[in-house]
Amino acid sequence: MTSFAVPPISPHQISLDAIAGSLTPSGPTLVRRLSDLAGCFENTETYEAEVAASNPIVYQVISSTVPELPRELPQSITTIFAGTCGGELYMTKGHQHPDPQGEIYFGLEGIGGIIMFDGNEKKYVEITPGKIGYIPPGWAHRSINSGTTPYKFLAVYPGSAGHDYGWVLKNGMGLRGFSENGKLILKDFII
Ligand SMILES: [Fe+2]
Repeated sequence: MTSFAVPPISPHQISLDAIAGSLTPSGPTLVRRLSDLAGCFENTETYEAEVAASNPIVYQVISSTVPELPRELPQSITTIFAGTCGGELYMTKGHQHPDPQGEIYFGLEGIGGIIMFDGNEKKYVEITPGKIGYIPPGWAHRSINSGTTPYKFLAVYPGSAGHDYGWVLKNGMGLRGFSENGKLILKDFII
């Protein structure tokens, strides 16, 4: 794992490899296993059994070297692997920005989407290669892989936005994504 650059950062080129799901030069890589997603899946019995049995990698995030600092504009590529836990599609932890600022996700590989929730209204935006999902300020967001291959997207976000994971655990995400007979089924998120 490499580290973030220290400002002042020089203008530079970043190479995007959609197949590898990587950015070069690269900063830190984050790997989330099933055990890192406590409280995310609806079926806690199956969740705990699968954590104990194999604890698979659910997703990884490879960042560029641009740091998460005010006025900077970091980027990262998230790869969510295909799979379910108790029928619920593999997902990211989901977060709210403590500093309410917007963000974009650009689809690179596979098929997935963004569940968004502002505490009242809920939305699902499908993302495929070439599509941009816009996350407005104030909307918590969680990505899911609704396909059978790795789903990859580029995120670009304000460096001061931050990540509040606790907001999602407290308020939910409005919707949950399940796979039933190979089809995406969205269900209300019951807290
Ligand atoms: Fe975000």
